[in-house]
Amino acid sequence: DWNMPDYIEEAVARIREQVGDEHVLLGLSGGVDSSVAAALIHRAIGDQLTCVFVDHGLLRLNEADQVMKTFADNLGVRVIHVDATEQFMGKLAGVSDPEAKRKIIGREFVEVFQEEAGKMTNARWLAQGTIYPDVIESAASKTGKAVAIKSHHNVGGLPDTLNLKLLEPLRELFKDEVRKLGVALGLPHDMVYRHPFPGPGLGVRILGEVKKEYADLLRRADAIFIEELRNTIDPETGKSWYDLTSQAFTVFLPVKSVGVMGDGRTYDYVVALRAVQTSDFMTADWAELPYALLKRVSGRVINEVRGINRVTYDVSSKPPATIEWE
Ligand code: XMP
Repeated sequence: DWNMPDYIEEAVARIREQVGDEHVLLGLSGGVDSSVAAALIHRAIGDQLTCVFVDHGLLRLNEADQVMKTFADNLGVRVIHVDATEQFMGKLAGVSDPEAKRKIIGREFVEVFQEEAGKMTNARWLAQGTIYPDVIESAASKTGKAVAIKSHHNVGGLPDTLNLKLLEPLRELFKDEVRKLGVALGLPHDMVYRHPFPGPGLGVRILGEVKKEYADLLRRADAIFIEELRNTIDPETGKSWYDLTSQAFTVFLPVKSVGVMGDGRTYDYVVALRAVQTSDFMTADWAELPYALLKRVSGRVINEVRGINRVTYDVSSKPPATIEWE
C-alpha cells in the first residue's frame, strides 16, 4: 500500500535513471493503464516522451477528442493522433467471423503503430502500461482469447521488430493502485474509473461485418446508455448505476425489425444493452438495472437515433454467455 506522492517521486526518479536523455514511445489507447503510464512518464521526462494514438474508427463517441484534450491540451503531452478509420474499415469489409475480425484489427493496429514508430528515428524505448495482473497472466498459459487480449493491449511483437527497450513503470501495481496513481497525476476521475473497453473496440460489439454506418449508430446509442447509467443514482447506496456495474455497453445487431412511428411503419436495426457485475471478469452476472432506467434508455435511443427502432436487454450471465457478444 503506497503513499501516492512518495510513490510518484520514487517512480519518477527510477524512470529518469533508466531512460537518461533517450526518447520514449508509447501507444496510447485511451484505456486506464496506458493513460496512467503516459501521465507518469510525462511527469518524469516531459518532451522525451511521444505518444502515438491510433484511432481505428471503432472508438466510443467523442473518445478521440477526449484523449487528445486530456493529454495534448491539458497535460501538454506530445501525442501523434493517427486517424486510420479508412484503413481499418477497408480491411474489415466483407469479414464477419469474430476471430478473423479480432486478428485483422490487432494486425492493422500493430502495422499503423509501427509505421509511426519507424518515423521516430530517435526513439530508444517502448513504454507499455503493463500492470501486475498482466505480468502474472502472461506467465500462466492461457486461452487463445486471453493471448489476443494481451497482445492487443500491449502491442505485442513490437520490441523485437523496432529494436526498442521496454519501459513498464506500472509492472508492480494492481488496478486500484493504478487508478489512484492516475488521479494523483491529475487525470480526470471519470477517465480513470472507466469501465474496461476491449482493444478491438466496437469491432466486437457490431455483430458480423463491421460497417461505418453501424459504428455511427452504435456510438450514439451507447453514449445514451452510458449517460443514463451515470445520471441514475441508486438511493440505497448513493452510487450511480455506472459505478454499480463493472461493465456496460451497447451491442449492434445487424437485423431489422418492424415498428411504428407517427403514422408510418419503420423497418430498422436492433440494439442490445449489456450490463454486468463481476469481480474478475471470468464470471459475471447480468445487472438488475431498474426498469425505470431501462425505460428511459430505450425511449431515448429509439427517439434520438434514427435507424434504430428496437432496444433489448441481455439477461445472460457468464458462463455460459461471455460478456462481449463476440
Ligand atoms: P468476455 O467477452 O470474454 O470478456 O467475457 C471478458 C473481458 O475481456 C474483455 N475483452 C477484451 N479485451 N481485447 C481486449 O483488450 C479483446 O479482444 C477482448 N475480448 C474481450 C471484455 O471487454 C471483458 O472485460
